[in-house]
Amino acid sequence: MIKISHHHQTPSLPKLNPMLISTLQLSSFLCLLLSTTITAAAVDDNSPWLPYTPTDYILLDCGSSSNTTDASLRSWDGDVRSQFSPSNIENTSSNATSSKSVIQVPYKTSRIFHSQFTYSFPVSAGPKFIRLYFYPVNYSELDITNSFFSLTSNDYTLLNNFSAFLTVSAMKPAVASLIKEFIVNVRDNQILNITFCPSPNSYAFVNGIEVVSMPENLYIRGNDHPIPLVSENQRFYIDNNSALETLYRLNVGGNEVSITNDTGMFRLWSPDDDYTYEDYGFTPHRDVAIRYRQETPPYTAPKIIYTTTRTMGNDSLRYNLTWRFPVDTGFYYLLRLHFCEIQLEVTLENQRVFIIYINNQTAERRADVIYWSGGTGIPVFKDYVIMVTDPDGRRSKQDLWLAMYPDLHFRPEYADAILNGLEIFKLSETAGVKKHNNKTSSFPAIIGSVAGGGSILVLIFGFWIFRRRRRVKDLGSKKPKSWIPLSSGLSLSSDLCRRFSLEEMKSATCNFDDSFVIGAGGFGNVYKGHIDNGATTVAIKRLNPSSNQGVHEFQTEIEMLSKLRHLHVVSLIGYCHDNCEMIIVYDYMVHEILRDHLYKSNKPCLPWKQRLQICIGAVKGLHYLHTSANRTIIHHDVKSTNILLDEKWVAKISDFGLSKLGP
Ligand SMILES: *[C@@H]1O[C@H](CO)[C@@H](O)[C@H](O)[C@H]1NC(C)=O
Ligand SMILES: *[C@@H]1O[C@H](CO)[C@@H](O)[C@H](O)[C@H]1NC(C)=O
Ligand SMILES: *[C@@H]1O[C@H](CO)[C@@H](O)[C@H](O)[C@H]1NC(C)=O
Ligand SMILES: *[C@@H]1O[C@H](CO)[C@@H](O)[C@H](O)[C@H]1NC(C)=O
Ligand SMILES: *[C@@H]1O[C@H](CO)[C@@H](O)[C@H](O)[C@H]1NC(C)=O
Ligand SMILES: *[C@@H]1O[C@H](CO)[C@@H](O)[C@H](O)[C@H]1NC(C)=O
Ligand SMILES: *[C@@H]1O[C@H](CO)[C@@H](O)[C@H](O)[C@H]1NC(C)=O
Ligand SMILES: *[C@@H]1O[C@H](CO)[C@@H](O)[C@H](O)[C@H]1NC(C)=O
Ligand SMILES: *[C@@H]1O[C@H](CO)[C@@H](O)[C@H](O)[C@H]1NC(C)=O
Ligand SMILES: *[C@@H]1O[C@H](CO)[C@@H](O)[C@H](O)[C@H]1NC(C)=O
Ligand SMILES: *[C@@H]1O[C@H](CO)[C@@H](O)[C@H](O)[C@H]1NC(C)=O
Repeated sequence: MIKISHHHQTPSLPKLNPMLISTLQLSSFLCLLLSTTITAAAVDDNSPWLPYTPTDYILLDCGSSSNTTDASLRSWDGDVRSQFSPSNIENTSSNATSSKSVIQVPYKTSRIFHSQFTYSFPVSAGPKFIRLYFYPVNYSELDITNSFFSLTSNDYTLLNNFSAFLTVSAMKPAVASLIKEFIVNVRDNQILNITFCPSPNSYAFVNGIEVVSMPENLYIRGNDHPIPLVSENQRFYIDNNSALETLYRLNVGGNEVSITNDTGMFRLWSPDDDYTYEDYGFTPHRDVAIRYRQETPPYTAPKIIYTTTRTMGNDSLRYNLTWRFPVDTGFYYLLRLHFCEIQLEVTLENQRVFIIYINNQTAERRADVIYWSGGTGIPVFKDYVIMVTDPDGRRSKQDLWLAMYPDLHFRPEYADAILNGLEIFKLSETAGVKKHNNKTSSFPAIIGSVAGGGSILVLIFGFWIFRRRRRVKDLGSKKPKSWIPLSSGLSLSSDLCRRFSLEEMKSATCNFDDSFVIGAGGFGNVYKGHIDNGATTVAIKRLNPSSNQGVHEFQTEIEMLSKLRHLHVVSLIGYCHDNCEMIIVYDYMVHEILRDHLYKSNKPCLPWKQRLQICIGAVKGLHYLHTSANRTIIHHDVKSTNILLDEKWVAKISDFGLSKLGP
């Protein structure tokens, strides 16, 4: 891992009026009490290991009249007298047995269909895995190269004019058999039907069928979980009408994880070596205790997936960490990336920050696993959907690219990226998948009046004192980490503060359309916009030339912010200074300004815990400004309209137009 060097300096603490200290001791004590309980509730260190137990679990050995046992010691029912087969099975289909003795259950026997044939599984409602086992060889004088068929399940066409033989022949490395895995939802009181339909002058066959239920919301997560649609400014929803086909499920940087070592759903996790590009990467492995959380429950993926990773090693600035996956053109694909920090060096936010590219488009900037998860050994996953098209319309197969690169814009401590696991699904064409435009939310002025906020500020400064005392103790063992100038060896000026053209700003905001306005003040309007082909949402502050906030404030704000990087200070992305326009581009904060959550708004009342966490955050931000730079930065305009809140309600100090450098 490349460590980015930074200056070591002992921050000087701000001097405080002793009167202020004594009047605020009570509140800091109160905060101390409350903050302890908040931390305890946030991470459950001893989450129990709870693998999932499927409510439906069916293994049907097709063509077999007896019950059998496979290599994993799972027992299969023969389909001849099975409750899932039609009673006239022996008159509507035929069975065959492979002469090869090495072949295992369920591949040994097969059922052959010359006309439409349906198995019916009376299962509970909810999402199910359907796994179909195929061993494509000549059975009973039938030429396997003539087998083409379709497969439907309830409303879904899962396979169309499918040839198991051609599919296996095209696979590299060569294999003899294959398993097709699908996810379909069974509605209330519905029977799961699986229907084979041979193409004209052809026949269908199957060796085994597996049906396993899965937790609701594991993959089909509905309208509460919008998924970013890469390179389009849209959200994607995978609902009960969608069917998915699993294409790849990888234990990145690790070995195969067998079906019996999965979390109860018998998913197979393969190594990723066949898909890495040019053998790059480094695969650290460490047996840390994995702590599942509510958002990433224990069934998400087995622990072993998280203890192995692929990272960039020592070459990280020279290349992208890259994988390639052959897929069919013309479909939407769901990518689920599993992350977990396990390396000793990375325990804090902003130590390893990277960009995720999918098919050469930016899918995520500022990927920071510790920020997402909350700590070492806590797993987290991120979903993305992408449409794979072929502009020429000539190729039916192409490669889906996944790549990662350090995001130096945020001045992380290490230049590196990480991935622990990966699942790729093809989404059904017929699925009722909805696309919605990102709604532009409206909210009142970003810079409002200074009114109110007194009690909040009291708490803030109470915390300031509390934090300040703690810091003094910590300094002996820890070096300050927040202020991280990059070493001079790297030329990264354009990464630190991008300069945008006016055209880019216009296209980000539909030519400064009023519907994009999210705030207004004496200086002009603030717009919500999208840059990088929609991958990044930003807040765009456009100074009105007639405003009294002029060139000086514009420059001050850019100069200050471009040097600051802290969790609790709003991030500058860049600026535009074309045609007399003065525009500043920031990270967009989903919950916008604190004031709007406190007074005169119809937004839900903020709970006390959250208010306190916001106070702590704001104080940490101020503390950073006062102590971590070469020179103290005095903000000069701290108020609830200048504290923004991100999607996790993390407080961010903003508006540095009036700030000054201290001694
Ligand atoms: C196979 O197992 C099922 C239960 O899984 C049982 O109902 C059936 O009788 C068994 N069939 C044979 C031939 O043993
Ligand atoms: C299958 O066909 C045979 C002869 O055509 C018939 O005697 C038998 O009843 C049929 N079995 C079923 C289950 O339909
Ligand atoms: C088909 O199954 C029957 C038992 O149901 C068995 O006697 C017969 O040998 C099987 N045929 C082949 C070709 O395996
Ligand atoms: C399968 O059967 C076809 C036609 O009967 C024959 O040409 C072919 O060689 C057979 N393939 C194998 C692998 O036995
Ligand atoms: C499943 O098949 C049964 C029998 O073939 C049929 O009665 C039923 O309507 C089918 N159900 C669905 C959901 O297709
Ligand atoms: C199925 O695919 C084969 C081989 O590509 C092709 O020859 C055949 O016409 C196709 N059949 C249908 C019904 O599309
Ligand atoms: C899917 O349908 C089931 C009822 O069959 C419902 O309980 C569940 O919430 C639905 N899930 C989604 C993601 O829409
Ligand atoms: C399951 O995992 C354990 C421990 O990681 C390993 O010893 C065992 O071989 C694995 N089982 C299979 C079938 O791969
Ligand atoms: C990376 O570099 C450090 C020091 O230069 C060295 O100790 C470490 O072994 C290297 N790691 C790899 C994976 O090459
Ligand atoms: C992505 O970029 C690589 C070169 O870095 C190129 O070979 C590949 O075709 C591109 N993929 C897409 C989908 O544009
Ligand atoms: C990494 O991939 C992205 C997207 O394809 C590309 O723009 C960038 O140039 C690549 N970086 C390196 C170092 O190859």
